Amino acid sequence: MRNLVILISGRGSNMEAIVRAAIPGARVAAVISNRPEAAGLEFARRHGIATAVVDHKAHSSREAFEVALAAAIDAFAPDLVVLAGFMRVLGEAFVRRYEGRMLNIHPSLLPAFPGLHTHERALQEGCRVHGATVHFVTPALDHGPIVVQAAVPVLPDDTPETLAARVLAQEHRIYPQAVRWFVEDRLRLTADGRVVLQGVSASAQES
Ligand code: GAR
Repeated sequence: MRNLVILISGRGSNMEAIVRAAIPGARVAAVISNRPEAAGLEFARRHGIATAVVDHKAHSSREAFEVALAAAIDAFAPDLVVLAGFMRVLGEAFVRRYEGRMLNIHPSLLPAFPGLHTHERALQEGCRVHGATVHFVTPALDHGPIVVQAAVPVLPDDTPETLAARVLAQEHRIYPQAVRWFVEDRLRLTADGRVVLQGVSASAQES
């Protein structure tokens, strides 16, 4: 059984999608938030999943916060750390600790639009397609070897909200899929930073 530790900061709908996917061979060992008021914690508790809060505001430096966060994560012996709307920038030492076993989802077709307000920025730039990316985490914010992407059309009357909703529906599809590949030992990161995905056709990555 593979232990998943999912990190959230807010709503937690991607975490919910992964829990609901009930991936064979995987167990959501814990949901950890840096914000005590994160709504997703309630869903986790209701589903009998252990929760923890490591409040970044309670620590005097990013380093101290990340030491505490790593201790909280490691208490659940994770095989995979899943960042699901975890909105803190993570330092190099923390990222290296989980190299090859930490995934993130970002609401854009990386490398376009790292950072915040991706949907507004895609609309401002007049993008005709937009989407979401699951990637292995590296020290560069919202960068890292790409595992899977989903594209959606940008429609003429889209607002940031309608576009976000269209992208989010795809996030909920591709994130459980990527986690499943990892749990099935079909997805890994090589020492030189390449993604290897075995037994997955190009169409399965798209559909
Ligand atoms: C998701 O859209 C996720 O892609 C994004 O935050 C949202 C969290 O929603 N993450 C980032 O922007 C990371 N840079 P959720 O809490 O409902 O899963």
